[in-house]
Amino acid sequence: MKTKIILDVDPGHDDAVAMLVAAKHEKLDLRGITVVAGNQVLEKTLRNALNVCSFAGIDVPVYAGQDRPLFRDQVVADDIHGETGLDGPEFPESTRQPEDKSAVDFIIEECLKYDKELVLVPTGPLTNIALALLKEPRIKQGIKEIVLMGGAYGLGNHTPSAEFNIFVDPEAAHIVFESGLPITMVGLDLTHQAKAYPEVVERIAQIGSPVADLVVELLKFFGYTYKRVFNFDAPPLHDVCAVAHVIDPTLIKTQKVPVIVETTRGACYGRTVCDFYFRTGKPANVDVALELDQERFWDLVIDTLKKY
Ligand code: BDR
Ligand code: CA
Repeated sequence: MKTKIILDVDPGHDDAVAMLVAAKHEKLDLRGITVVAGNQVLEKTLRNALNVCSFAGIDVPVYAGQDRPLFRDQVVADDIHGETGLDGPEFPESTRQPEDKSAVDFIIEECLKYDKELVLVPTGPLTNIALALLKEPRIKQGIKEIVLMGGAYGLGNHTPSAEFNIFVDPEAAHIVFESGLPITMVGLDLTHQAKAYPEVVERIAQIGSPVADLVVELLKFFGYTYKRVFNFDAPPLHDVCAVAHVIDPTLIKTQKVPVIVETTRGACYGRTVCDFYFRTGKPANVDVALELDQERFWDLVIDTLKKY
């Protein structure tokens, strides 16, 4: 049976590839794409999501979500994703429009339909998910688990302590992490094992379809900024790892430990504090992603892209 998911994105180069994989993999039933402000302001992340759907023929409803974090001032990642949030490729005029309903209301309505069946896959800041939980706590009944890209037990990327998605809305992340729902945190420790090296890019280029060419262009820009900002030898496809984990949980090794989101506004604001030695006495609330089977991950991604 297919797994029902909602993909909550802020595209974003890696979000765009996550959308392409989630929409085409036969094991997933993508119920909707919800968009949040993150890598860029909402107007831009929404436009990017619609452009990707229109270009790739992804026939899934798209919902506009929150345009700012719950409490803090807005932060964007233009240094990584550019002025548009998806710099690099030129998209033809989009034929797609967002639905009238808000992302938060869609998440609520969809969750209330099911009994522990729906997997939420947020690959941006957790604002939409937190707000849905606050507005209608009964949605928990419909959620099987939340598999999110965010956080790190090691170094951060937006600050030395914090990963971008969590840093953008730490209070929202706190609400989600303390919700009592099963959570898998696919953080930087894992996603930095998913670097798209030239051999991978070449395999994608070999597919020779418009969608594969789009991915190659996305990776070119993403690779350039990752080199400039982090001196990485290849760009990591963070968000795709979360989708891949839902498709095949054997790709990623995890360990369940207590995780606390730091919401004090100091040098560690937005840090995901992972208690591997169980020193806090808190119950283990999060499956933290540790190790990626890289070969099988890329096979899955490339085989899925071949279906376009
Ligand atoms: C995360 O931040 C964004 O820039 C990426 O899309 C990814 O979701 C990595 O820290
Ligand atoms: Ca993202």
